[in-house]
Amino acid sequence: MPRSRQDNLVAGLDIGSAFVRMAVGQVFTREETHEAEQLHILGLAEVSSQGVHRGIINSIEDVVSAVSECLEQTERMVGVPLDSVWVGVSGLHIMVQKSHGVVAVSKPEGEIGEEDVARAVEASRSIATPLNYEVLHVLPKSFSIDGQSGIKDPVGMTGIRLEVDTQIILGSAAQIKNLTKAIYRAGLEIDDLVLSIIAAAEAVITPRQKELGVVVVNLGASTTSLVAYEEGEILHTAIIPLGSEHITNDIAIGLRTSIDIAEAVKIAHGNCAPDAVFKRDQLDLYEVGAPEHELIKKEYLHDIIQARAEEILRKINAELTALQRSGLLPAGVVFTGAGAKLGGLIDLSKKILRLPSTLGYPLGLGSVTDKINDLGFSSAVGLVKWGSMMGETIGRKNGVRRSGLSSVRKVGGALSQQLKKMMKSLIP
Ligand SMILES: Nc1ncnc2c1ncn2[C@@H]1O[C@H](COP(=O)(O)OP(=O)(O)OP(=O)(O)O)[C@@H](O)[C@H]1O
Ligand SMILES: [Mg+2]
Repeated sequence: MPRSRQDNLVAGLDIGSAFVRMAVGQVFTREETHEAEQLHILGLAEVSSQGVHRGIINSIEDVVSAVSECLEQTERMVGVPLDSVWVGVSGLHIMVQKSHGVVAVSKPEGEIGEEDVARAVEASRSIATPLNYEVLHVLPKSFSIDGQSGIKDPVGMTGIRLEVDTQIILGSAAQIKNLTKAIYRAGLEIDDLVLSIIAAAEAVITPRQKELGVVVVNLGASTTSLVAYEEGEILHTAIIPLGSEHITNDIAIGLRTSIDIAEAVKIAHGNCAPDAVFKRDQLDLYEVGAPEHELIKKEYLHDIIQARAEEILRKINAELTALQRSGLLPAGVVFTGAGAKLGGLIDLSKKILRLPSTLGYPLGLGSVTDKINDLGFSSAVGLVKWGSMMGETIGRKNGVRRSGLSSVRKVGGALSQQLKKMMKSLIP
């Protein structure tokens, strides 16, 4: 048996527009740590991405080669072959629908069991799925028993009719097929598909923040995704078709320079802080790789970047406004994704979103590498966290675990433990 099968290894794969990233973690059991169960990140690797834009695969071959290269680097780092990964799904093909499920409670004395909850959640899934879409997650929001609404955890309560309001996250069946095909061709099996932003949130926020109300934003190259929580539940998820590459494009046009120079300027000198003062500061593009000396005003660069960063933040605010939570989430906004490394983002966010704003670094994980605090890795690390939470480890199965029922899950709320148990009992 390969070592990975014995060692409780969990791997996460995040296929982005700019980078393909992989993370591997190991779960140390209570006996090993003599304390609580702990997850250690053993390896992180990234390679430039090809063949995918805004979560849409446009060349399977290119994705296969990027994933294979990333896998090779990761395996070299952890020293064992990996058989399977938890895969992040994101992009413009993701759709969110509200649904509702109703079942009769099975036991004669009317006490609601975990199976009733599972059946109610399943019932909500069948109502909503449109053609050509696949269900990624069914997230229960709240339950009603015999017409009494607002119940968070119905297990053990008494009633005859159990209803549930759910949020169903769907992805284009064709896109999911392309994604899974590319991963199989790279020689990996798939533990499950997970919406990337939900996985990233698992790594960077606490249950208390979810309880208070928080929004996690992943600022990627081509998209900005977000998930908002309140009272421990997912309130909303959205994917905005704007990302950090739009800032790069604006710089290229504004400075009449190449994309590569624009990218280098953004990374080395990019800033969008609201009250930055540059006086007459200038910058020589030669320093960031331009073939000739060319002076530009820092203030001009700042204005270009700030305009686009502000647009992205205003779109985030529009999502919060639609939820009637603009400026109202007490635990604020937590940024992840490599695009969030942009200088001044936190200050601009405080101004535009009127919320406490921070960068989201992984919490409570051990790591052998400093790269764990690279914001670009939050989705890959989140997938490892998610995989370990689901109690699955590499190699315990054959083939895809994404059999309908495995996506019926709740994240972080009162129900999560119970649904995890339920999942285990349902997975063959
Ligand atoms: N120090 C930095 N300052 C500003 N921007 C940065 C910095 N480092 C990286 N970026 C930007 O972050 C973006 C890449 O982010 P990330 O790696 O999270 O994207 P991705 O996951 O590949 O894309 P997506 O999630 O949109 O598919 C690039 O546009 C890059 O220019
Ligand atoms: Mg990304």
